[in-house]
Amino acid sequence: MIDKELLKNIIIRKIHFDEPVPYGLMLDADPSWNAVSKYLASSEVHVGLLKREIIASIVLYMPDADTLEIKNIAVNENLQGKGIGQKLLDYATRISIKKNIRTMIIGTSNSSIGQLYLYQKAGFEMTEIRENFFLYNYPEPIFENGIQCRHMIMLKKYL
Ligand code: ACO
Repeated sequence: MIDKELLKNIIIRKIHFDEPVPYGLMLDADPSWNAVSKYLASSEVHVGLLKREIIASIVLYMPDADTLEIKNIAVNENLQGKGIGQKLLDYATRISIKKNIRTMIIGTSNSSIGQLYLYQKAGFEMTEIRENFFLYNYPEPIFENGIQCRHMIMLKKYL
């Protein structure tokens, strides 16, 4: 349930160059260290802070001048379900609008039911299925909600 008081106290900003990158959070969203380290090299990391502590992160990648892809989004497990994920998505939308970007993209697994719900609620629409993406790119089988994570579902939001 949305916690309005908590949300008021969360600051989201670009990570400072001397701050530790919250790899633990990022690996919750994407268990492949290989994949995370590849896209981090060409992405911006933004963090959510509560009382100066990093409690959330969002990784933004711009494949071209007109597109922003959210590569990774994560909230500390004990603070999930309170509206912080939605707040991070709103923040990424504001950044896109400021940069005159027209298309936002986000991808998640066929088994990530809660995430698919959240992204569609935030205005993203399913546009593509990258078949067997997780079978080809991840060494171990992944299961969520009793479903095998096999395909990458791509969602887009036009601004
Ligand atoms: N399961 C069920 N419902 C969910 C889930 C979930 N995993 N995530 C969000 N929701 C629902 C909430 O219940 C809420 O519904 P409501 O508005 O009807 O009450 C709505 O979506 C908004 O949720 P928030 O509270 O804003 O989301 P939250 O702060 O939990 O952040 C996030 C969502 C980032 C997915 C978080 O749950 C998380 O860190 N999960 C683990 C990492 C992860 O899976 N990241 C995404 C991978 S895909 C990618 O990174 C591109």
